[in-house]
Amino acid sequence: MRSLVVYESMYGNTHLLADHIAEGLRVHGEVSVVSVADATDEDVASADLVVVGGPTHAHGMTSATSRKSAVDAAAKSDGTLHLDAAAAGPGLRDWFDELGPVVDKRAAAFDTRIDTTAILTGRASRGISHRLSKRGFTMVSHPESFLVDRHSSLLEGESDRATKWGEELGHQYQWPPVADDPDFHEGVGRTP
Ligand SMILES: Cc1cc2nc3c(=O)[nH]c(=O)nc-3n(C[C@H](O)[C@H](O)[C@H](O)COP(=O)(O)O)c2cc1C
Repeated sequence: MRSLVVYESMYGNTHLLADHIAEGLRVHGEVSVVSVADATDEDVASADLVVVGGPTHAHGMTSATSRKSAVDAAAKSDGTLHLDAAAAGPGLRDWFDELGPVVDKRAAAFDTRIDTTAILTGRASRGISHRLSKRGFTMVSHPESFLVDRHSSLLEGESDRATKWGEELGHQYQWPPVADDPDFHEGVGRTP
């Protein structure tokens, strides 16, 4: 199985988690990890499973405005927030706008968000999952969130959880959800 992990990241957490997810997926075969700036249609075409993740901003996927706010916040943070190389953009919304339709391809979505109830934080992974479904991907997992604190520092244990999730995705790849499964919801895969 060939996997592709595509990430967007402002402060590096989603990037780090993408690397950990890839570590788990590597148990099942070859894996590439690429930022959204570098992920091409050819990369997608050559993968069996495409895993896409980004930070939650304003309850959903980032926007040009929220990305600018993130850059401004880093500049004002007295060095506590560091911009990832991927912070220069583009964002996942731009990537989805350019991505062509796919046939017979599987995918999963993840995000990073603040550690409190998702009703309050929102989840970028829902929008990512929805867009992947609209492009023709079959979702092999429910959208997953990994948690940061209010200062955008990754919580302890989340990296290991990401590695395990990546490994589980390899198994779910072989048995994707089916439409008559009561836990399966069109467009978002399984919900927790
Ligand atoms: C402009 C902005 C808006 C944010 N809005 C939310 C939000 O609505 N919900 C949430 O859980 N986290 C929010 N956050 C925190 C981000 O989710 C957090 O910085 C991100 O997950 C860290 O991932 P990264 O290091 O890959 O950028 C926001 C952060 C920024 C900079």
